Amino acid sequence: MKKLYIVGNWKSNKSIAETLDWISSFKSSTIGTAEVENKEVVICPQFPLLYIFKNEFQDYKINEVLKLNIGSQNVSPYQEGAHTGEVTAKLLKEFCTYTIVGHSERRQQFSETDESIYQKIKLLLQNEITPILCVSDLEHFNSMKSIIQNDNNTVSLKNVVVAYEPIWAIGTGKTDTPENADSVCKSIKDAGAEFVIYGGSVNAENVNSFTSMPNINGVLPGNASLDPLKFIHIVKNS
Ligand code: PGA
Repeated sequence: MKKLYIVGNWKSNKSIAETLDWISSFKSSTIGTAEVENKEVVICPQFPLLYIFKNEFQDYKINEVLKLNIGSQNVSPYQEGAHTGEVTAKLLKEFCTYTIVGHSERRQQFSETDESIYQKIKLLLQNEITPILCVSDLEHFNSMKSIIQNDNNTVSLKNVVVAYEPIWAIGTGKTDTPENADSVCKSIKDAGAEFVIYGGSVNAENVNSFTSMPNINGVLPGNASLDPLKFIHIVKNS
């Protein structure tokens, strides 16, 4: 059975009260062992909410079955020190086991470059956090791969989860076709990735059309992860 990653990206949403409501509905959901077999379920909230997730989920499983992993949406490209406003991998490892890097919103709105994303990946791996690297297509994956090769292959792509996210499908309600997404994920795997997931308007109704494809190792829902019941259904239907 292939491994699936279900990664909820909350983006810049939710207050503390809204987060506690989400957690309480999520915890009161029912889920069976078979529905979570071979699935890594991750929620990536805003930084200040990580502490709440750690307290609520560190030693907790829904119905003693579903473990919720915690992820962040960004990390500093610097190790530590005089970098005002940045959050380091060294600190994040006290909360997170995953971090999203290179999301197209960060590239577009905060001018992130492939080179700085590579620095983030290196620091995450040094701190035993799995990077979830977003790319918009195969060319984009290959350009990240060349940066890694030029640094003497210091990073192994086998330790990175790659998310194929066509920009036009993010937050638009329009998805790639499962067939095309599968073929892009396959080409990224052929180029060196081990796990490739799909993101862009995934919801509880369409998730299975993606996760049932042979080369897609999961999904990265944004909007649909904000509602705990919708998110649980994404997990169940995947
Ligand atoms: P969406 O977001 O599911 O709301 O399209 C996906 C993403 O930005 O990763």
